[in-house]
Amino acid sequence: MAKKLFVKTYGCQMNVYDSARMADVLAPLGYAEAASPEDADMVILNTCHIREKAAEKVFSELGRLRVLKTARDGKLIIAVAGCVAQAEGAEILRRAPFVDIVLGPQTYHRLPEMVAKAARAALKNGNGGAVLDTEFPLEPKFDHLPDARADGQAAFLSVQEGCDKFCTFCVVPYTRGAEYSRPAQAILDEARKLVAQGVVEISLLGQNVNGWHGDGASGGAWGLGRLIRELADIQGLERIRYTTSHPNDMDEDLISAHAQVDKLMPFLSLPVQSGSDRILDAMNRKHDRAFYLSLVERLKIAKPDLALTTDLIVGFPGETDADFQDTMDLVRQVGFINTYSFKYSPRPGTPAAGMPNQVAEAVKDARLAELQTLLWDQTNQFNQQSVGKTMAVLLDRPGRYPGQLTGRSPFMQPVHVDNASDRMGQIVHVRITELHSNSLAGEAISAERICA
Ligand code: 5AD
Ligand code: SF4
Repeated sequence: MAKKLFVKTYGCQMNVYDSARMADVLAPLGYAEAASPEDADMVILNTCHIREKAAEKVFSELGRLRVLKTARDGKLIIAVAGCVAQAEGAEILRRAPFVDIVLGPQTYHRLPEMVAKAARAALKNGNGGAVLDTEFPLEPKFDHLPDARADGQAAFLSVQEGCDKFCTFCVVPYTRGAEYSRPAQAILDEARKLVAQGVVEISLLGQNVNGWHGDGASGGAWGLGRLIRELADIQGLERIRYTTSHPNDMDEDLISAHAQVDKLMPFLSLPVQSGSDRILDAMNRKHDRAFYLSLVERLKIAKPDLALTTDLIVGFPGETDADFQDTMDLVRQVGFINTYSFKYSPRPGTPAAGMPNQVAEAVKDARLAELQTLLWDQTNQFNQQSVGKTMAVLLDRPGRYPGQLTGRSPFMQPVHVDNASDRMGQIVHVRITELHSNSLAGEAISAERICA
């Protein structure tokens, strides 16, 4: 009998990718996609542990699933995957004993065995003896995953995972483990298969994606710049992006790829976290403000129209008003067009959680509001400057109205287009005519398909 799977994803794009791969792993067992938990035989929560709020959301969702499971006499498999599962493991089963499976980000290739085990246990004792697998296995999961199934024209491709940087605020080195780079050949193969399914844009993913390194086809070491050049040779692949990078891993070859590879989009996420040298040091970022600014300058020389976005944390322990103003100043100086900005959230087991001079919540709130106001202005200004320009837009979604399509500009701005309803899945030239609050609107100006 056909079974249905509902995966709820929290957190980063890596989790979005992992969720799709978990569905791929379970498809051979007969699991099709469910529209909601109510419609599903199995629910996976793919969780995020990066900030306290993200982690707590999981337990409230589990409360709702418990009600559903009870109403069905236990006939619902509940799995908790991802970084909360990795960090809290058995604690989840203690707090939520109705959970059947707890699995970390490195073991989801073993899901079919786990599902079988959980089902056997449920038959035996009626209430599902839970399965826990949060190992960091020696065999990389990528060697055991089925081919990725494309869903639309833009796809994620995970090339690197884990982190050895140990920023003092961050759980990733503990939840995702040590840095691992997938072999170049496996990445190129996966990219070709995605393109054969109609994908035209690939975003390379990794916690430290620019730390990716591998052996080249003809020997010799490759970095991410070389991998991007090889990907750009794939016919039919029109756009390449990568996220997220650490400033210290931005090497010369990758910078020059921005100048030389037309398919590489002029939009880069380069987290800086703070504009204060004192705080950068306390965060163990291993670079200072001057290094970041000089890196931005080198990137802009390579690609003058490059737009940058970043990640920022306000209220890190010991952050003074002056430190915070250094961050504001850096944001203005670089002219980020967007950021992900967060209040510092102490995470158990990380060095910063035990640091003195934790910042009061009200101060964090005020700083975040001030920062976001500035960023809102900068985003708006950038969008305003887009009006009147012609941009290449990948139309990959229906719009808000019948006949309207929506896509992304090279800078990831959503663009609504009314006069191209037959061009779904294509990259078209769009003249931007209007600015909405979070998006742009424009009209397609040519019928021929174009690159980037
Ligand atoms: N508190 C707040 N933000 C955090 N991030 C990581 N850890 C924390 C934390 N403890 C942010 C960083 C990172 C992004 C993914 O999440 O800015 O780049
Ligand atoms: Fe976390 Fe720092 Fe590693 Fe990024 S580089 S994943 S912020 S430890």
